[in-house]
Amino acid sequence: MPKYKAPRGTYDILPGESYKWQYVRALFRQTAKLFNYREIETPIFEDSNIFERTVGDTSDIVEKEMYKFKDKKGRIFALRPEGTASVVRAYIENGLYVKNNASKLFYLGPMFRYDRPQKGRHRQFYQYGIENIGSASSYIDAEVIALADHFLNKLGLENYELQINSIGCVNCAKDHEKALQEYFSSYRDELCADCQKRLDKNPKRILDCKVKSCQKIAADAPSILDYLDYDCAANFQELQNHLQEMGISFKINHRIVRGLDYYTQTAFEFVDNNLGAQNTLIGGGRYDGLIKKLGGKDQPGIGFAGGFERLLLAMKTEKIGFAAEDLPDLYFVNIGAKAQKTGIKILQELRQKDFSVEFDPDRTSISSQMKAANRSGAKFCLILGEDELVKNKVILKDMASGEQHEYTFDSIISEIRNRLSTS
Ligand code: HAM
Repeated sequence: MPKYKAPRGTYDILPGESYKWQYVRALFRQTAKLFNYREIETPIFEDSNIFERTVGDTSDIVEKEMYKFKDKKGRIFALRPEGTASVVRAYIENGLYVKNNASKLFYLGPMFRYDRPQKGRHRQFYQYGIENIGSASSYIDAEVIALADHFLNKLGLENYELQINSIGCVNCAKDHEKALQEYFSSYRDELCADCQKRLDKNPKRILDCKVKSCQKIAADAPSILDYLDYDCAANFQELQNHLQEMGISFKINHRIVRGLDYYTQTAFEFVDNNLGAQNTLIGGGRYDGLIKKLGGKDQPGIGFAGGFERLLLAMKTEKIGFAAEDLPDLYFVNIGAKAQKTGIKILQELRQKDFSVEFDPDRTSISSQMKAANRSGAKFCLILGEDELVKNKVILKDMASGEQHEYTFDSIISEIRNRLSTS
């Protein structure tokens, strides 16, 4: 047993896996660029009020999942449980609303939630997300969804479903809340302990409960869609029209409430039913009051985030391959102290010319160096021994075919370049 282990709910991304992460991250960056989003990075911890005031007191995140701590001066911080509030804080603080083109932002990075770890749910997990601040157009709602859809598509995923809802504005939500309270009150004793608390504080969260008996009761609960006012209903219809124009299929699910309090109107999730309990690949929606709540102008906003872990699980389930891992171009085999001296110079030159080369000074025998060359996955092996040194030559071996030839020091670099460009 090792003496130290990674904390429960966290994990290491090891060589052999890390290239898959590089691939999905790169594809997300590319997709965001297609829609002209620009990258933003915010600190991993923030004043905990930023999350408490926006994500909401009665949300699971604030009630039980935040990693909160006091620093040496007694200030209360939280490891960020999500990205939206931090991005909006940065947007306001840095005056991005006056800078051109700075209101379409994307981010990648670790988030932290103290929850019971399970498949697809971790305490440190990695999100990708976007935030579009400043437009209330329903076209932007559709475009944000289109970006997410494009990304999942580009990865080759097929078994996911887009579900959309409108949770209305503050006024619609109030009427709906009343109706939910009335409906669920008659089932109070049958609800789980959490939902009994939710009934008084935030009944719409019962719609989201994962407990089977609560889900059964919630199935016939009043739908928010029957409580939308004229503007919210029109907005939701426009969103559906745009999605149809874009050829993006969707299902309306009036039970999507999202677990965070800042949402208004459009709410959506990309769900993969093969993933088990944690099946939401991406979640997002509109948050028109959030910027003002954090001290900014009264501007609308919309965005989404997804977890890379679930994405990789979905790719594995659908047997989707990754671009091959970048392995070294060359493995450098040196025999003898003299050869090593010259070898180091050649090695240095190769790396300066952008070839990736592996060399292990601790292996001295030719057989152990050749074995290591095989294991490294390098395409070619460069061999320099005392004999070659005398001739000012070096052997280039093609690891796949086993073929090998001698080349002069002067010609070896251009020879390798030619071979690599055709291999
Ligand atoms: P969220 O629904 O809390 O929304 O999280 C978004 C996604 O992050 C989830 O759908 C899931 O893929 C992933 N995720 C969440 N918690 C975990 C966890 N413990 N382990 C692994 N993956 C997880 C938000 O975070 C909002 N900020 C999204 C947003 C952006 N809304 C508007 N803009």
